[in-house]
Amino acid sequence: MTFPRRFIFAYLVTISLMYLAAPPAHAWWGSKRKAEQKAGALLFRDKGCAHCHGAGAVGGKKAPALTTLPKDKKWTPARISDQILNGGQKMPPFADSLTDQQVAQIVAYLRARHKPVVPPSAGPANVSAAAMSLP
Ligand code: HEC
Repeated sequence: MTFPRRFIFAYLVTISLMYLAAPPAHAWWGSKRKAEQKAGALLFRDKGCAHCHGAGAVGGKKAPALTTLPKDKKWTPARISDQILNGGQKMPPFADSLTDQQVAQIVAYLRARHKPVVPPSAGPANVSAAAMSLP
């Protein structure tokens, strides 16, 4: 059984358009990771981390900078979450105030070499609004 050529052509065009319409998997993963990092940046700002570690984790009077963490092999994701959950010598534990997902988002933020920059907090009322507007 043979099809007229134009049907075959239409078929090929349809297949190509379907492929173009569906974004490749790696783009989806990339944007998902960026969304995680951004959510982490907002949590870092709003959960009090920035109060000690400075905005953008560049360091403050009370705590060291966390910007070198992505290059430091010692700071595995497990160890970073452990520090967040249990605190340290002068750092309070956050196990009671953060969900597992939030901890994972902060870890993603701290491990990002190019950290997303978020605007300074305008107060607690804006926290949920900012989180809602995430891509
Ligand atoms: C009260 C101040 C304070 C707050 C709030 C705070 N930290 Fe810390 N953090 C410290 C200090 C001080 C250290 C240094 C080691 C220690 O004392 O535990 C530290 C260490 C760390 C480290 C290990 C880095 C290193 O080189 O030692 C990580 C990761 C970290 N903090 C993440 C966070 C995150 C994420 C938050 C928010 C959920 C947070 N911190 C909130 C004070 C604070």
